[in-house]
Amino acid sequence: MKQKTARQVEEVTPEEEVIFTSLRVKGWGEFIGQRRVKESLQIAISAARKRQEAIEHILLYGPPGLGKTTLSHLIAKEMGSNIRITSGPAIERAGDLAAILTNLEKGDILFIDEIHRLNKVVEETLYPAMEDYALDVVLGKGPSARTLRLDLPQFTIIGATTRVGLLSAPLRDRFGVVHRLSFYTPSDLEHIVVNAAKKLAIQIEKESTKELAKRARGTPRVALKLLKRARDFAQVKGEGHVTKQLVDDALGLLEVDSVGLDSGDRRLLLAIIEKHGGGPVGIETIASTITEDIGTIEEVVEPYLLQLGFLKRTSRGRVATKAAYKHLGVSFPYDQKEQQTLL
Ligand SMILES: Nc1ncnc2c1ncn2[C@@H]1O[C@H](COP(=O)(O)OP(=O)(O)OP(=O)(O)O)[C@@H](O)[C@H]1O
Ligand SMILES: [Mg+2]
Repeated sequence: MKQKTARQVEEVTPEEEVIFTSLRVKGWGEFIGQRRVKESLQIAISAARKRQEAIEHILLYGPPGLGKTTLSHLIAKEMGSNIRITSGPAIERAGDLAAILTNLEKGDILFIDEIHRLNKVVEETLYPAMEDYALDVVLGKGPSARTLRLDLPQFTIIGATTRVGLLSAPLRDRFGVVHRLSFYTPSDLEHIVVNAAKKLAIQIEKESTKELAKRARGTPRVALKLLKRARDFAQVKGEGHVTKQLVDDALGLLEVDSVGLDSGDRRLLLAIIEKHGGGPVGIETIASTITEDIGTIEEVVEPYLLQLGFLKRTSRGRVATKAAYKHLGVSFPYDQKEQQTLL
C-alpha cells in the first residue's frame, strides 16, 4: 500500500474510530435496511467486477448518521479496493487534489465526505478527472502558460453529503450512481440495536430495544448512541440489565421524547407555534428566532419533522401541523381560518 499523501488524506476521526472498532459493519448482512439502495449498489458492484472495471462514481446523500460512510466502506470491501478518505474542506487547492489523484492506483476508491464543500477551482479540476480520468495541469503563468494533460488510473469517487442541494449541477451529473438514504423504520432500528447490543455484550430486554428504536429519530447513529447511554444508566443505577424503566429514565434525562424528538426539534416547533402563530413563517425568520444556522435546520432538524408530519413546507413558509400541536400538548387554534385552510 502507498503512503498516505499529505494532510488531505485524513486519519480517521474519533467518531469513525468507534465505528471501526466496536460496532463496525463488517458485511452486507450487518447493514440493515435501505433495501433498494443496497440492492442497486450490489448490482453495480457485481457488474463492475465482471467487467473488471472500476465502479462508476457514486453519490450518497441524506441526513447525518444514516450510513453514508458505512456504505462507502462496504462498497470498497466488496470491490476489493483500497479506500482513501478525504473531505471537501480538506482539499484546499487544485494542487492538493492533484496530489491525491496522482497517488491513486487502478480501481482505488476516493471517498470525499462533505463533497458540497469543495471549492470551485478544485471542483473544476475534478470534472475531467471524473469524466476522462485526466488531470489538466497548468504550467507557468501569463501568456507562456501551457496546459499539460496527465492520465490517471481508472478510479472511483464516492461523494457523501447531507446537503445535496448545494452541489452544482455539473458535479452532480458526473456521478453515474446517485442514492438518497432515507430514515429507517423502527423495525430496522430494532434490528440494529439488537445486533449492537450483542456485539457490546449488553443485556437488554426486548421491550427496551423496541423503545430505543422508536425514539432513535429514524437514525442508526442515534439508536447506537441511545443504547450506549442506556447501558451507562443500567450500570450506574441498575444491575447492568437494560430494563424498559432504565431506558425511560436515561432518555428522559437526555430530553428525548416519546417519538424521538430532542430539545432542538421541539424548540423549532415551539418557535413556529408560539412566536409565529403556527406559521407559515420563512426559514430565515425561524433561524433567527432560534439562533440556528439555516443549513442545519434544513438538513438536520427539518427532515425528521417532515417525515413525522409535524411540519409542512409551503410556498409561503413553514407550518406546524395539527399533529405537532397535539404532540406538544398545545391546543390547536381552530378559530384561525387561515391555518385550517393550510393544514
Ligand atoms: N444500515 C445500517 N445498519 C447497521 N448500522 C448502521 C447502518 N447505517 C449506519 N449504521 C451505523 O450508524 C453509525 C453512523 O453511520 P455513518 O457514520 O455511516 O453515517 P453517515 O451517513 O456517514 O453520517 P454523517 O452524515 O454524519 O457523516 C455507524 O456507527 C454505523 O455503523
Ligand atoms: Mg459520514
